[in-house]
Order: sequence, then C-alpha cells, then structure tokens
Amino acid sequence: ITLATGAPLDASKLKITRNPNPSKPRPNEELVFGQTFTDHMLTIPWSAKEGWGTPHIKPYGNLSLDPSACVFHYAFELFEGLKAYRTPQNTITMFRPDKNMARMNKSAARICLPTFESEELIKLTGKLIEQDKHLVPQGNGYSLYIRPTMIGTSKGLGVGTPSEALLYVITSPVGPYYKTGFKAVRLEATDYATRAWPGGVGDKKLGANYAPCILPQLQAAKRGYQQNLWLFGPEKNITEVGTMNVFFVFLNKVTGKKELVTAPLDGTILEGVTRDSVLTLARDKLDPQEWDINERYYTITEVATRAKQGELLEAFGSGTAAVVSPIKEIGWNNEDIHVPLLPGEQCGALTKQVAQWIADIQYGRVNYGNWSKTVELP
Ligand code: COI
Repeated sequence: ITLATGAPLDASKLKITRNPNPSKPRPNEELVFGQTFTDHMLTIPWSAKEGWGTPHIKPYGNLSLDPSACVFHYAFELFEGLKAYRTPQNTITMFRPDKNMARMNKSAARICLPTFESEELIKLTGKLIEQDKHLVPQGNGYSLYIRPTMIGTSKGLGVGTPSEALLYVITSPVGPYYKTGFKAVRLEATDYATRAWPGGVGDKKLGANYAPCILPQLQAAKRGYQQNLWLFGPEKNITEVGTMNVFFVFLNKVTGKKELVTAPLDGTILEGVTRDSVLTLARDKLDPQEWDINERYYTITEVATRAKQGELLEAFGSGTAAVVSPIKEIGWNNEDIHVPLLPGEQCGALTKQVAQWIADIQYGRVNYGNWSKTVELP
C-alpha cells in the first residue's frame, strides 16, 4: 500500500522567504545537542487530494495546528536524524542522506503517512543548509544535525488514515551528544521494560518508540546507570542501548580470533545508518584471519559468562548523534560486568579505530564509496 497520491515531491517548486534577522554562529563550546536551531526551516504540506505541495524555506518558527490534529492523539509522527559536516576545504557534505531518506519512507509507509521522492528531499535539504551555511560549525565532533520530521495534520478524532500531513526539516548546530563528551558509560541491563517486540515497529523511527523509554531510563539513572541495555525475551537477547544500536567484541580463546557482534535486523532493531557504516567498514578493513563480524543473536548471559572468562574485550553504542559511545560497565543480576578500556582512555581499541574511520569520512579527509554528498553552494 502506498499513500503517494497526487503530485510528487518536486524540489524545483521551492519557494524561499529569507529570515530578515540572520544570527551569528555561537562558539563551539556553547553548542548543546539539539538546543539551538538555525535561521530557517523547510516545510512541505501534503494532502490526499493534491499530493505534495510547494516546498517552502522560511524563517524558523512555530507551527499552527488544529488541537484535534491526528499527530497529537494517535502519534502520527516519524523523524530522521542525519548530519552535515564542514570539510577542511570549507565545503559542506551530508553523510549518507540516501539511507536516511529510504528509512524515512519506510517509517512513513508503516503509519500510513505519505511516501516521497528521496532525491527531491535531499536536494531541498541541501537548499536549506545553503541558507544557513554560516551556522555549520567547524572542527572534529562538531556538525549540523538535521532533523527531517513528518506529522499527520488532519483534523478530527476518528482513528484512520491521515488525509493531510506536513513534512518539515529543522537543523541544529551540535557538538558531542553527551554533556560528558566522549566518555565511557555505565548501562543497566533492562528486562523489566521492553523497547521493541516481534511484529512491532522497533525498526521504524517513530516518535512513539521513544517516549515510553524515558521512565526506564530514569529508573536506571536512580541506580547510577546512564542508559538502558535493552534485553528481549526469555533468552534475554541484547538488542539496543538507549536510543542506539549496540556492538560487542569477544575473544575466542580457542581460535584466538576476535568477533564483532551486533543483533540481526529482525524487525525489532532500528536499521541504524551508523550501524551499517560500522559493519561495512569492519568487513572491509579488518583482517578476516583475525576477525569474525557477525549479526547474530547473543544474550546478557553470554556477555556475563565471557566477561568472567576474560573473553569480553569491548562494547560500544552506535548512532548518528553520538556516532560511537563506549561502554565501561553493565549492571546485571546485582553485579557489574566490567568492560575493558584501553589504559588511561575512555574506549577500547576497535571503538577508537571505528570512530576514526567514520570521522575521516564524515569530515571529508577520506573518500569512501559515495557516502558523502556535497551540498552545492553557489
Ligand atoms: C541517534 O542518533 O542515536 C538517535 O537515536 C537520535 C536521538 C537524538 C533520538
């Protein structure tokens, strides 16, 4: 079922209304994740009758919606997160925007919001960045976070397919996701709350997946853990961490080989762009004589047992916001599983290597496939 009736999304129809009061860039130290926004936003209305309407870049500002709009009652909302980077040549590039657009279309289709032409939204996002190019920060760890969002705007309390929707994009100059910077975190392995389940929507980027995860995070925080390590099912499979995918590194003491493991995409795991980037780079760059790279089920029991045997080498979360987030401890069964870190550092060797590979590509120091999409600036 596709809901793309009427006019397709067409970037050539773009209308631009400039903000008469352009802002000055803030110093990098003042950038808190997602707290300040640029001078402009992009909005595109959709209706079942007309299809996609005129894309409009205009000054950043409030939306006006009917209080009965379906987004407020039945959670017709989805979003994406991607970043643009300033390169040493002073060009601006987006990291793998095609992956985000493909995922956004999958999220839209799942909750009966309209799909759209991915290439057109990439072009329009480029135009939005162009308006605010002076606000794209410079420097390692700093970027422009891009938040495409789609909501159902039709009025009325009947539960059904939205007949009107709004796609909008806002952007935020950002620094490191965690206030603590690149610092290893403590997790609580969580089996008393479930993030996602088979047949559910855990693999889609819907706002409705996030709100229910805050209470368990507060419960874990009360016990001294920053994030939840989400377990699933009677086997207590490890699925994700906080709002990120998660990777573990084990040593097989019999063969001497190391293994990089993450959960398989079985419908309960978000199809992370960073997750895919880590797997692709690891498969490409690590020596297969020394490494196995597996998407497989693994449990907290395996992690606890292998930690005791000295076979747990590293663990890290992966996501667009934090890129990689090293893990140092996991609370489980009234004990803390210790995850080794490099001496005097906040992460393990592979975590460090992966962070470097990805940063080199994002900041345009290394070309990799067609992962970097240059924003055309006049
Ligand atoms: C991530 O990039 O890791 C996210 O899930 C975005 C977060 C701010 C919701």
